[in-house]
Amino acid sequence: MSLMSDLSAIVGEKNVLTGDELAPYLTDWRNMATGAAQCAVRPGSTEEVAAVVKACASAGAPIVTQGGNTSLVGGATPDASGQSIVLLTSRLNKVREIDADNATITVEAGMILQNLQQTARDAGFLFPLSLAAEGSCTIGGNLATNAGGTQVLRYGNMRELTLGLEVVCADGEIWNGLRGLRKDNTGYDLRDLFVGSEGTLGIITAATLKLFPQPAAKCTAMLALSSVENAVAVLRRARKAFDTALTGYELMAGVCIDMVHRCFPQQKPPFAARPAWYALLETSDSEGEEHARAMFEAMLGESFEAGEIEDAVIAENIGQSKDLWHLRESITLAQAQAVKSIKHDISVPVSRMAEFIATTDAACQERFPGLLNMTFGHLGDGNLHYNVGTSERFTAEDMARDYDAIYNLVHDAAHAFQGSISAEHGIGAFKVDELPRYKAPRELDLMGRVKAAFDPQGLLNPGKMLR
Ligand code: FAD
Ligand code: MLT
Ligand code: ZN
Repeated sequence: MSLMSDLSAIVGEKNVLTGDELAPYLTDWRNMATGAAQCAVRPGSTEEVAAVVKACASAGAPIVTQGGNTSLVGGATPDASGQSIVLLTSRLNKVREIDADNATITVEAGMILQNLQQTARDAGFLFPLSLAAEGSCTIGGNLATNAGGTQVLRYGNMRELTLGLEVVCADGEIWNGLRGLRKDNTGYDLRDLFVGSEGTLGIITAATLKLFPQPAAKCTAMLALSSVENAVAVLRRARKAFDTALTGYELMAGVCIDMVHRCFPQQKPPFAARPAWYALLETSDSEGEEHARAMFEAMLGESFEAGEIEDAVIAENIGQSKDLWHLRESITLAQAQAVKSIKHDISVPVSRMAEFIATTDAACQERFPGLLNMTFGHLGDGNLHYNVGTSERFTAEDMARDYDAIYNLVHDAAHAFQGSISAEHGIGAFKVDELPRYKAPRELDLMGRVKAAFDPQGLLNPGKMLR
């Protein structure tokens, strides 16, 4: 029997996609890479995933696992060889258990993040992972990329939200590590190896995740700032004032919000005068509305007096808060629509962020005059999307010519500031050749040995993360 008929026998013919049905799964979210594949398969259970993997292993066919296909580094796109099978997790979308006393939820990997947030809310809990792609990204993709998003400074990355995993290994055997334990020191932590492994070590089929209490009240404000130094000063003050109640602190260059307004005119910037920088500040309070608001206003008042803030708009209700967040969360779409861009998902210590931005902006303008700096992101985590775009003075042809040089300039700068070239998006295909420039050979060697131990045939997402 051929692999295709084996796969049809396992998942049913209608869940083996070829031709036009296969096409949407061959191109990445940013339209930067299109690959080829024998087919896409949609298994409906962990046992079906295991059988698919066994069939692929015996046929020597590579497997590219794909959830919501929102990777920003081409991680879920097959290569051009046409040999791969794309394994879609969309039918693995059930809630297996909510354990209220343990404050955990066990869900399958293909569940859309927004559906998990809603399920948690319906059960009286909060699942805090939040990012602009939450309407289409999946829990499996969030786990495989160790996703970050906008609440990390309070709740951590996806790794910190994860207690247990169920994984189909490269030989098709199932590892059931769905433990809801907050303490478990019984050897190497396989869970932490699979989280962030970008589909290269195993296929995650389910996870046990932490739940949190819903906050009693939230306060949101958009701030107008004249410098990144001031943004950092406000963050320091907010950390001191709110401690764990500080749940969001995002920074955006003025040019980013201009672009959102230009692309989506119904979304209006909140200030009459356009500031150099905006910050979005959010707190989540366990006591209530009045307490939250009093603390918020007191902190902002002190910040004004210290000259850190030019202007501020405090959301009066949930609708206004959503509008402020919507401005922030539309930046990725606006940049994709308005310009050709290069994404740099860097992190550096918060204490060095202002210096990093000033020196890297200057170096970019000196070497690539007219390149559009359009930086934004999660300042509270020391993670900014140091994205750059085309302009009238720096055209798409300029960018295509200088792509690698720009990439290297920014990544070298992050490295020189003791930072990372991928804070939250992963390595995928687009940064696989960058990694050896910055990781120590010993670290790469150890990673290669882990890969060989988990996937000796090299069939899981080949060419991603490691060559
Ligand atoms: P996919 O894109 O389908 O896959 C991503 C990687 O995970 C691939 O390597 C794939 O092979 C692997 N994978 C997927 N499912 C599994 C599985 N079940 N088992 C093993 N491997 C698997 N990321 C952030 O961290 N923070 C952000 O704020 C953020 N914002 C974003 C905003 C937008 C508008 C977009 C488009 C993306 C954003 N991302 C962000 C990037 C992206 O990493 C996340 O959206 C998400 O974590 C990917 O989930 P997915 O289901 O789409 O995964
Ligand atoms: C975000 O934080 O919105 C995304 O991770 C960033 C991006 O588009 O570069
Ligand atoms: Zn981000």
